[in-house]
Amino acid sequence: MKDLYWRAISIDSIDPDYFPSVPLFMKTAGNYVLYKDAERKFSSADRSRMDRTGTEFMYVRSGDMSEISTYLENSLKDMLTRDDLDSERKGRILYQTSINYLVDAFEAPEEASNLERCRQLVQHMMSYLSNEPHALKSVGSVVEHNLYIFSHSVQVAALNLLAHEKLFQVHPDELIDVGIGSMLHDYGMIFVTNDILNKPDALSDVEYYKIKQHTQKGYEYLKDSGRFGDMSLTIVRHHHERYDGNGYPTGMKGDQIPRSAQLSAMCDMYSALTLDRAYRKAVSHQEAIKAMRTEAGAFNASLLGNFVELVTAQKE
Ligand SMILES: [Fe+2]
Repeated sequence: MKDLYWRAISIDSIDPDYFPSVPLFMKTAGNYVLYKDAERKFSSADRSRMDRTGTEFMYVRSGDMSEISTYLENSLKDMLTRDDLDSERKGRILYQTSINYLVDAFEAPEEASNLERCRQLVQHMMSYLSNEPHALKSVGSVVEHNLYIFSHSVQVAALNLLAHEKLFQVHPDELIDVGIGSMLHDYGMIFVTNDILNKPDALSDVEYYKIKQHTQKGYEYLKDSGRFGDMSLTIVRHHHERYDGNGYPTGMKGDQIPRSAQLSAMCDMYSALTLDRAYRKAVSHQEAIKAMRTEAGAFNASLLGNFVELVTAQKE
């Protein structure tokens, strides 16, 4: 994860006048070309130029990311309440900020400052989701420019927050833990090597076994840090359990599986299907729902029905 030299920044999160003075690059025919140096501010004229040319992303060196993340996280609340930005742009800024955060968090999730950043992000995400009726539409457009796992984590967090609030009426305090657990649900993947994670062909039994360990390993690591609530840890550990008992790591079945984990499993599968992967292209909303319904016995049928209804309403 550490060799991410170039990081894509959505144009939407580059606010003229406020954006920190770091060099910005453009990608041209596979090369990164300096657009402006640290001395010059990104102006409104630059912004109009990007809009005119349909440029969606600029690139920064990963060493400049901490300055940018601090700026984005500090200004997120203001950006989300501004009247001159539409819902979609706010969604993209939130998504970008969350992904920047996750890249850091995956290196040291137990650090108190990272956990506090996560808590604040989840709070912003919650207020965005509750104020924007079709918020989920906007969560997802930055996907192809970032590693799958981070995009997926942010999408699962947004889905899971919404689903827990609407279907279980979970108290806001507990929702924070749902958000944190969802952001980090695949944290254990850092224990799986990249050649397995990015393998385009079918996995061998041994490789699949290693992938499956991400639930238990992530859980143990985060639990040992002593900083995470039970709800967060439950999501990390049990998001691959299946209603019929064919999941992992414990193989528990039916309503023995905590309801939060059942819902997380649905969010996880839905998100995994609707994002591009190394071995296949993303499928549409309708196809994802169909695939989930076809997984006979994997989910509690009535909960799945409620989930489908909720996500479908968001898509309309
Ligand atoms: Fe997972």
